[in-house]
Amino acid sequence: MYRIVEKIKLTPTDKMLVIEAPEAARKAKPGQFAVLRISEKGERIPITIAGVDPDKGTVVIVFAEVGKTSKDLGKLGVGDYILNFAAPLGNPLNIKNYGTVLCVGGGVFVGALLFLIKALRQAGNEIVTIIGARNSEHLIFLDDAEKLSDELYISTDDGSRGYKGLEFLKELLNKRKFDHVFTIGSTSMQRLVSELTHPYSIPTTVNLFPIMVDATGMCGACRVIVGGATKFACVDGPDFDGHKVDFDQLISRMRFYNPQEKIAMVYHYKEVA
Ligand SMILES: Cc1cc2nc3c(=O)[nH]c(=O)nc-3n(C[C@H](O)[C@H](O)[C@H](O)COP(=O)(O)OP(=O)(O)OC[C@H]3O[C@@H](n4cnc5c(N)ncnc54)[C@H](O)[C@@H]3O)c2cc1C
Ligand code: FES
Repeated sequence: MYRIVEKIKLTPTDKMLVIEAPEAARKAKPGQFAVLRISEKGERIPITIAGVDPDKGTVVIVFAEVGKTSKDLGKLGVGDYILNFAAPLGNPLNIKNYGTVLCVGGGVFVGALLFLIKALRQAGNEIVTIIGARNSEHLIFLDDAEKLSDELYISTDDGSRGYKGLEFLKELLNKRKFDHVFTIGSTSMQRLVSELTHPYSIPTTVNLFPIMVDATGMCGACRVIVGGATKFACVDGPDFDGHKVDFDQLISRMRFYNPQEKIAMVYHYKEVA
């Protein structure tokens, strides 16, 4: 059992939990994820590791309440326990001194982006960060991002704070040289970033979130096409070369269980999408 030691409500839908998980806290690196199950009858969901404190034996996760299980998770409080917390899973991101690195994070995944930025900074990189969200209410960890970055840009889909959308990235790419780009956020955002960096041939690492079931490479649920080859995101990723990912196939597979997810919300939370 894994005890929750801290809980922060970041936005109306996004929450951060600090969980006692000593082994994961010792081993987890940026880019890796956990698969957790709240209780005996609960489903297993993957969540990215957004920070570790090996001395305290704790792991940070940041999540959005989007459906039945994430809503159930959001109801837990300090002192409550999570039944299973399998971590770290997946491959760590390649941390080294690239030179100047552009880090683009969106929505709830900004927590995971900061974990990466800390490691890239320690490796000696100059960090330019873009933090995005659908609107100003959903921008998270801005102060931390500012402290950890050499330059920070803010973007919202509706333009309520910072740049409107990511079109400004074209200008930034025209005037600055970046040695590597990392992006983590919604699949559509990661796709756009990859499309924008492609003409400049800047290596671009994305973090993919296909549906995962066993997260051990056995079930095939998380298969994605990268450079024409089939890969399993849980064991071959979740990070891949964004210029090689077949995003059309990925997005259509991510919608596969939408009808069942809607039924689960009506059944458990009386919510109709
Ligand atoms: C490697 C990985 C890391 C992730 N990290 C985070 C994170 O740090 N924070 C966060 O908020 N979310 C993260 N997700 C997405 C998270 O797993 C889903 O939001 C969660 O499973 C939704 O479950 P639900 O019952 O609340 O919603 P549902 O109503 O069941 O689903 C809502 C949406 O969530 C996605 N989803 C549902 N089940 C799964 C599943 N088993 N595997 C993957 N996606 C699923 C689908 O896109 C679906 O349309 C990650 C997913 C993956 C694969
Ligand atoms: S989740 Fe089953 S193979 Fe990746």
